[in-house]
Amino acid sequence: KEFKLLKGKTVVITAGPTREKIDPVRFISNHSSGKMGYSIAEEARKQGARVVLISGPVQIPAPTGIDLVKVESAEDMYNACIEVFDKADIVIKTAAVADYRPKFAYNEKVKKQPGGTTLELERTKDILFELGQRKKNQLLIGFAAETNNVDEYARKKLLTKNANMIVANNVKAEGAGFGTDTNIVTLYKRDGSIVELPLMSKADVAGKIIEEIAALLKDLEKK
Ligand code: PMT
Repeated sequence: KEFKLLKGKTVVITAGPTREKIDPVRFISNHSSGKMGYSIAEEARKQGARVVLISGPVQIPAPTGIDLVKVESAEDMYNACIEVFDKADIVIKTAAVADYRPKFAYNEKVKKQPGGTTLELERTKDILFELGQRKKNQLLIGFAAETNNVDEYARKKLLTKNANMIVANNVKAEGAGFGTDTNIVTLYKRDGSIVELPLMSKADVAGKIIEEIAALLKDLEKK
C-alpha cells in the first residue's frame, strides 16, 4: 500500500497576490503568479491531505481534487483564512498579501488632476500574525519574501508571527521568487535548525516543504 505523508489532514494554503482597489479600473498588487502556492497545494493533495486553496487572482489552473476559494483583497483573504482556521491541521501562507491598501476606494473612475497627486494608504491586517495568535494545535508555516538581510528577517518572522516554520526566499536571486518555475528557499525551524535548499523546480520545493511539515507533525503528535 502506498504511504502518504498527510493522510487525513486538512491543509489550508494561500497563494497568489491580493488586489487592493483604488477605483473601478485601478488597483495595487504585486508579481505573485501563484505557482509556488499551487505547487504546494498539488503536493499536499498527492500526499493524501484535504486541501483548501485560498487564492488571489492568478492565471494558472487550480489542481484538481482540492477546494478552491477565490479572493481578491487582503481583507477577503483574511476572512477566508479565519473561516477555515479552526478546522485546519496545517496552514501554509504562500500568498503575497498587500501590506497597504488605499484608504478610500472610489466608486467612479478617478479623473486626471493637473500636476501630481497622492494616494493615501492604510495597513491591511497581518493574517499570519493573527493566525499565530489564534493557533492551538495547528502547524503554521509562513513565507518570507526578502531582497536583503534574508536570514535576519526570516528568523524575526518565525518568532514575531508565532510560526512553526518560515520558508524564506531572496526574491532578487536569479531563478527565485515571483513568476519563475523555480525557487531557492531556506527553511527556518523553531528548534533553531535551518535547511538550505538549492535551486529547484517549485514542484520539488513543494515536495521538500511537505516532507519537513510531515516531520514537524510527527514531533507534535509525540508531545
Ligand atoms: O506566486 P509565485 O510567482 O510562485 O511567487 C512565489 C512567492 C515569491 C510569492 C512566494 O515564494 C513567497 O515568498 N510568498 C510570500 C510573499 C510575502 O508576502 O512575503 P512577506 O515577507 O511580505 O510576508 C511574510 C508572510 O506574511 C507571508 O507568509 C505572507 O503570506 C504573510 N502576510 C503578509 C502580509 C499580510 N498582510 N498578511 C500576511 O499573512
